[in-house]
Amino acid sequence: MNILILISSYRKMGNTDLVAAIIGEDLQLAAKANNEPLVLNTLYLGHMGLEPCRGCRVCFDRGEEFCPIKDEFTEIKTAMKSADCIILAGPVYVDDVNGIMKNWIDRLAHVCHRPEFAGKSAYLLVTVGSSRTGHALRTMDTALRLWGFHIIGKAGLKTGAKTDREHIESMHGEKLSKVAAIIFTDLKKERFKNPSFISLMMFKIQQIGWSRAPQSTIDYQFWKEKGWLNGRQKFFIQPEGNFIKIGLARFVGTVVAKFLI
Ligand SMILES: Cc1cc2nc3c(=O)[nH]c(=O)nc-3n(C[C@H](O)[C@H](O)[C@H](O)COP(=O)(O)O)c2cc1C
Repeated sequence: MNILILISSYRKMGNTDLVAAIIGEDLQLAAKANNEPLVLNTLYLGHMGLEPCRGCRVCFDRGEEFCPIKDEFTEIKTAMKSADCIILAGPVYVDDVNGIMKNWIDRLAHVCHRPEFAGKSAYLLVTVGSSRTGHALRTMDTALRLWGFHIIGKAGLKTGAKTDREHIESMHGEKLSKVAAIIFTDLKKERFKNPSFISLMMFKIQQIGWSRAPQSTIDYQFWKEKGWLNGRQKFFIQPEGNFIKIGLARFVGTVVAKFLI
């Protein structure tokens, strides 16, 4: 099991970092108890010199390898590709993800066109002073689902402005142990093979959209080479699970696509 923790707070030992570290420790305990080899790495997106997207569209039109920015983006993407699961964690800034996370999402915008993370899982986590977390979690959820990730779950934790580990454990310790158990079980049982209704529906919308793209584009070629433009292809991977759910999600996706595309 290879898990990558991606932290978008600039503050090392800040609320998000502490929360993610506790989940990481619980995951290590679960892995040990189950004799499961676990590789756990943490990357701090704010400390990797990730430059802002320049909007040149080269990644969309020619391929991400032609991006004019040369920074640690490739290292981040390589780490994401080697992981079975990412735990994406960040603070809420003004009701949404912070700029560091949004910049990371923008730099990966080409993956909305060419979902490279099919078969991988993600858990979404935000900390917040005192207000809502739904908007920030939705921003993360939309991007990662489009990229092909199976979303294991999400959590928003109220932590105040700056707190210490003891306080976090007393407020959220029980919840964080549950989050670690959910992540561990989901990965062990390979639940990514049983995609959610929303993910199945979004795949159908993407499938319809990219089937209408000009055949000369690299996006069309990517979808074609993967076999995902075949109308009988129900998801990025062969989905397990209830055929009624799969059929209904595809039907709803077809209807939604009529209005969106
Ligand atoms: C620029 C900025 C904007 C923030 N916006 C909000 C907000 O809209 N609502 C809220 O409840 N807390 C807000 N906070 C508080 C953080 O979400 C909260 O303290 C978070 O746990 C910080 O995580 P960190 O220690 O990992 O950086 C904001 C903090 C900063 C620095």
